Parts: sequence; C-alpha cells; structure tokens
Amino acid sequence: MIYAAILAGGTGSRMGVSDTPKQFLEIKGKPILIYTVEKFLLNPKFEKVIVLTPENWISHTKRILKKHIGEPEKIEVIAGGSSRNETIMNAIDYIEETDGLDDETIIVTHDSVRPFVTHRMIEDNIKAAQQFGACDTVIPATDTIVESTDGYAISDIPLRQHMYQGQTPQSFKAKALKEAYDSLSEEERAILTDAAKILVMKGSTVKLVKGETYNIKITYPYDLRIARSLLEDTEND
Ligand code: CTP
Repeated sequence: MIYAAILAGGTGSRMGVSDTPKQFLEIKGKPILIYTVEKFLLNPKFEKVIVLTPENWISHTKRILKKHIGEPEKIEVIAGGSSRNETIMNAIDYIEETDGLDDETIIVTHDSVRPFVTHRMIEDNIKAAQQFGACDTVIPATDTIVESTDGYAISDIPLRQHMYQGQTPQSFKAKALKEAYDSLSEEERAILTDAAKILVMKGSTVKLVKGETYNIKITYPYDLRIARSLLEDTEND
C-alpha cells in the first residue's frame, strides 16, 4: 500500500511569525498546508494522506481541512515529532499500528510548505520508491557550491555537475527506512537533517527524481512573496 505523509510538524522559526507556524499562513485566503494536501488527494494511489502537525495544532488543522476540503475519509491528522525525521517515524508508526507494514509499503514524504509539487513528481516518486526502495527529488545546482567546514574559509569546491539541491517528495519503502533509522545511534540521528541520508549512511541506493525550480520550500518571508506571485501566475494561465 502507498501512503502520503505531509510533514507539518515544524514551527517555522525562520519565517519570524511568532504565533503561527508557516504552514498555516494563508495565500489568497487559503492556508499553505491546504494547497499541498490538495495535490496529494488528487492521486488515487494513496491509501491515506497522513498530515502531521504540532500536537496543539491538530484541532486547528482538522478545522481548516473541513472548511476547505470537506471530510475526505483518506485524511488522518496526527502529531508530528521533535525533529523532521521523528515526524516521519510517527507516520510510519501510525501506518504500522493501523494497517501493518510489509516490505512493499511505500511512504511518500513531503514538506507541507512546498505547495507547488506536481502530479508528475508524485508519480515519479512512487515508481522510483517501488523500483529502488528510496528516492529523493532534486534539481541540478545552478550556483557553484562552496564548502567551508569552519565557516571562515573554503575547504572545498565540489564539481558543480555532481551537485544537486534536495527538494521533496522523498519516498521510501517504509519498513526499510524505519529499520535503518532504528539502527542509528543518538549522535548519528542528531546530525541528520535529511531522511534520505538515513539510507545513504547505510550504503543503500537512493534514486534521483527530477524536481523543478518552482517546487520551492517556503522558509523566509521572501519565499512567501514568491509563492504568492507564482499562485497568481498559475491562475492567469
Ligand atoms: N517539520 C516537521 N516536523 C518537525 C520539523 C519540521 O514535520 N519536527 C516539517 C515542517 O513543518 C516543514 C518541513 O518539515 O513543512 C520542512 O522543514 P523546515 O522548512 O525546516 O520547517 P520548520 O522546521 O518549521 O522551519 P524552521 O527551521 O524555520 O523553524
């Protein structure tokens, strides 16, 4: 079975709005999270679309889903975790408890604050996760990536043609991802900012899926302005 996990468990500190996590901010009268959830509801392959939010935002999330989408049986709202990876693990635990996990259970994880994901990206993720066990949506790096391990001077400039920028969705065989995560030490988990890296650290293949430059993550107030104009553009098409 195939599940979507919409990761909305963060607080959006870099957005600088103190009382509302960025996934609940509205663009043209609709919360960002809703735009994202709608994209996943359009794909009939998902058994459930699991939305993970901070515990104290669960009832608000249910309210806005009801207002903008109705009450589709497919949606479940549950609490996220203390880190992005812990949020993903909460989704996998939920699947295990409700339907059970087998080797072929697929989880398509997606940032709630990337509302411009497309049907093509979601389909490519499902296919790649089924075939390779794991995949990550990326775009080729346009800028040269400069590495500095001390934040003071350059330690390396990797070849640009080998560099990509990671986006989401990131999709996995859920059981294998959980087993790999469970096998990591606390220290290893603490430095992991990315779910795909859990498998990279274990030496597993993570296939690349083509993203798009417009599949932006809304992180700073500037991104919100870009998202607003992208949505206006889409409506004028
Ligand atoms: N996320 C999550 N659970 C967490 C932390 C983050 O589900 N414990 C989600 C966010 O809600 C967001 C996505 O992961 O949709 C990408 O993370 P990021 O942009 O870093 O979100 P925040 O952690 O909310 O932002 P900030 O780092 O500015 O606080």
